[in-house]
Amino acid sequence: MLGDMAARRHKKRKNDEPLCFANPMPPFTLPPGYTRIKLVQSFHELATTPFEGDVNALCWQRTVPGDFSEVVEHLVVGKGITTIDDSRLLALPVSAAGRAAIDILLEDQRLLRALDLDPVLDCIHGYLRDENPGPVITDVHSFHVDSATASADTWLCTYHGPASEGLRNDEAQRRVDIPETRAELLKCFGGKDDDDFRKYLNENCYDLHYAPIAQARPFSFGLGNLWRVAVDYPGSPVPPCIHRAPETRPDQPPRLLLIS
Ligand SMILES: [Fe+2]
Repeated sequence: MLGDMAARRHKKRKNDEPLCFANPMPPFTLPPGYTRIKLVQSFHELATTPFEGDVNALCWQRTVPGDFSEVVEHLVVGKGITTIDDSRLLALPVSAAGRAAIDILLEDQRLLRALDLDPVLDCIHGYLRDENPGPVITDVHSFHVDSATASADTWLCTYHGPASEGLRNDEAQRRVDIPETRAELLKCFGGKDDDDFRKYLNENCYDLHYAPIAQARPFSFGLGNLWRVAVDYPGSPVPPCIHRAPETRPDQPPRLLLIS
């Protein structure tokens, strides 16, 4: 999150369309022929490479040492999202492999804090759902872009559990631009398709959500990879990166996610 730099708009969490649990995503591989993702070799390169030209996502692809499943096993969390602070990590009675994982968790946050960011480590055991879905699903499980009022990026790393997922910009359509959906939204709005309607779409985050086109091939962000992705803000030189949270089942171990 961005603290005082920019007010990040949080997406309302609402009921989502059914999701397929059966086929977990394969590890991250660069989508063939897709030029919006740039691989980098270091944290420094991740932090300093500008979004320009086609690029709206940077991935520091890495294999991180340590046993993250042991860390998650020791974090006894309830349903929903539990934020894990450094002291809780340091107090876990883990093996050397678990300690190596904790070192990575702490070091990644240290690197981000050194950039004046405010990273959060979340242990996620299912997201809480809104009971009143509107015409456009604004759940974190729906493909969406993050938005801010000033220059901002989103940083993401999944260490354990199902990884965040991406959708190519050229395989996505804004849900508010789908005629049937727009007509339904107009009905809810009760007015004309004018500036006030666009403001309504914006205030309700409807304009941040995307539908995959029929031939779309969503991809996994992979485990251990640290990503910096472009956000929707006024004056951004590139289109925002479309992503979503993967579905998790209650009987699965929780996800461990770094987000900033
Ligand atoms: Fe997001």
